[in-house]
Amino acid sequence: MKEKKAVQEAFTELSSHYEEAIDGELNLFWGWSYHKFLEELVNQTTFQKNQKILDIATGTLVLPRKILEQKVPGIQITGLDITESMLRQGQKKLKAEGIDSAIDLTCADAMALPYSDGSFDIVVSGLASHHMNIPLMLSEMKRVLKPDGLLSVIDVGTSPFWDLPIVKGIARVVAYIYFLMKENPVRAWAEALAMSNLRTPEGWEEDLQKAGFIGIRIVKLSSKYKWIPEPLSIQSQQNGRNND
Ligand SMILES: C[S@@+](CC[C@H](N)C(=O)[O-])C[C@H]1O[C@@H](n2cnc3c(N)ncnc32)[C@H](O)[C@@H]1O
Repeated sequence: MKEKKAVQEAFTELSSHYEEAIDGELNLFWGWSYHKFLEELVNQTTFQKNQKILDIATGTLVLPRKILEQKVPGIQITGLDITESMLRQGQKKLKAEGIDSAIDLTCADAMALPYSDGSFDIVVSGLASHHMNIPLMLSEMKRVLKPDGLLSVIDVGTSPFWDLPIVKGIARVVAYIYFLMKENPVRAWAEALAMSNLRTPEGWEEDLQKAGFIGIRIVKLSSKYKWIPEPLSIQSQQNGRNND
């Protein structure tokens, strides 16, 4: 509960300048532009006609817009986020372009998705899993996926070194100070809390297997500095059965 409130407060503050801020951060930490980073998820995922796609923690709807740009016929996209003002910022841009009916929006918690079992062909999520309880997020993703549905996630990972409790503790303090200086206390708190959710590729594999996913593919993406936790691209498949 504490983490959700921190996230909502942080992203409400950030929403007006989110895309510029995140672009600066990704460039600084990894040498990726924000848009190129999300395009990597789109490139790693095969979208087919008439599919139903759910973007979890969609923010200002940049990822759904990139999926729409693929011009796959009949595709239906839903963007879900817990922070209303992030969705509102995204909606403003869609309206300005006259495409606001192209994406369904839901303001809700990814830990309790308001959809029936087996509703979507693909569930995607960019730069957000580190703000969530990953096992719970995966179990909800699996529940709402159709049998043989696909999961595609792109986010910061970690390494065994960064996973050591003492190193994690130091990283939490460093993250807090950095975001306090760059942004504000609410963002600093949300990012410091998020450090506990970071997963190594092996940790992701274990959580995905436990949640019942198969065909797991985890790729470490390029990163500017060896000492900063690397970005990961993660794809996996529902195991063909719902509600085991
Ligand atoms: C760094 S932003 C990423 C936004 C977007 N996916 C993108 O790539 O730009 C993290 C987003 O996760 C959302 N978020 C965090 N925890 C959430 C939860 N439990 N349920 C739904 N959204 C959540 C935040 O509100 C925020 O919009």
